[in-house]
Amino acid sequence: MAKTDKIKRIAILTGGGDCPGLNAVIRAIAKPAIFQHDIDVYGIEDGFHGLIYRKAHQLRAEDVSGILTRGGTILGSSNKDNPFDHEMIVDGASKRVDVSGECAEYIREMGWDALICIGGDGTQAMTQKFHELGVNVVGVPKTIDNDLSATDVTFGFQSAVDVATEALDRLHTTAMSHHRVQVAEMMGRYAGWLTLYSGVGGGADVILIPEIEFDMDIVAEYCLSRSRHGKRFTIVAVAEGARPKGGKMVVAKFLQDSPDPIRLGGIGKVVAETIAERTGLEARATVLGHLQRGGSPVPYDRVLATRFGHAAIELVVERKFGTMPALQGDRIVPVLLADAIDRLKLVPPDHSLIRAARQLGTCFGDEPAVG
Ligand code: F6P
Repeated sequence: MAKTDKIKRIAILTGGGDCPGLNAVIRAIAKPAIFQHDIDVYGIEDGFHGLIYRKAHQLRAEDVSGILTRGGTILGSSNKDNPFDHEMIVDGASKRVDVSGECAEYIREMGWDALICIGGDGTQAMTQKFHELGVNVVGVPKTIDNDLSATDVTFGFQSAVDVATEALDRLHTTAMSHHRVQVAEMMGRYAGWLTLYSGVGGGADVILIPEIEFDMDIVAEYCLSRSRHGKRFTIVAVAEGARPKGGKMVVAKFLQDSPDPIRLGGIGKVVAETIAERTGLEARATVLGHLQRGGSPVPYDRVLATRFGHAAIELVVERKFGTMPALQGDRIVPVLLADAIDRLKLVPPDHSLIRAARQLGTCFGDEPAVG
């Protein structure tokens, strides 16, 4: 296709873990594409799985109507399929094979002038590889972890913060009634954004994140000192990737068939049991898990997803491939995919929200809290 040719047909896929707002993005790409630009839109099923196994269908305006508020993705998703390292049976034996060339061929056969990939760092790393192969791609940044660099916020994050904050509100009432330590384990992989924001929003007394290694003696002493001062409960928000000083992250399982095989989980139970042992206080752990990724997007995410989706189709029409719309301040700007996947966006330990929380008496497990 010549560089000036009009875009006539595109495909969309959603890759990686689902999150609230995916459907809002699909809608915000497809409606302007169909109504404004006269572009045919196809939906690839189950992320890169559908690209490998040639599963796609046309999305008409009625297919993307009424989905703004729906959680999950109408296209399905997968976090196990990598076209550049795909497990398949060759001559009776299981082998890992690069099938990206076949995927590019499928894209050509289908007449797709561009591919829009909605996903987190893993999906965008593969999107960038397709860009390097010469496929016209645009990415859209998604994840509840908020760990994609180049964008201030990813859609899905605020919805997850909402769920986790409400969970802390609910744990408060039981903690206060039963004079317990209630530990809530939150998602986020190697980044502590979700735990930090919901921890502050939900008034957690202790916030443990991957970016600040904690000392269990400090956490235990803090719970005891609260009891001594008449506060007979403590709420601990712990990120799944948090770890004690010199210790390791707790891994729940290895998924061999996933491009990112490590699934974190279990630190909440370890923290609760250690607190109980060292203080004699009753301590319980709750794992929020996939509840944080489910359900309807909050209005902030509906709006951000709409802005990202609209910007993505504009980037396609303008043929600005190899890019991704990002939120910087209040502006949606195009950034290079290569820059976006360069590194994970972690919480700076001197983040202003951490400094504020410390001065309000929140314990981050690395030093005794004030007050
Ligand atoms: O990246 C989103 C996320 O929900 C992480 O916070 C979490 O560690 C991971 O995905 C869980 O993945 P899965 O749904 O495969 O268990």
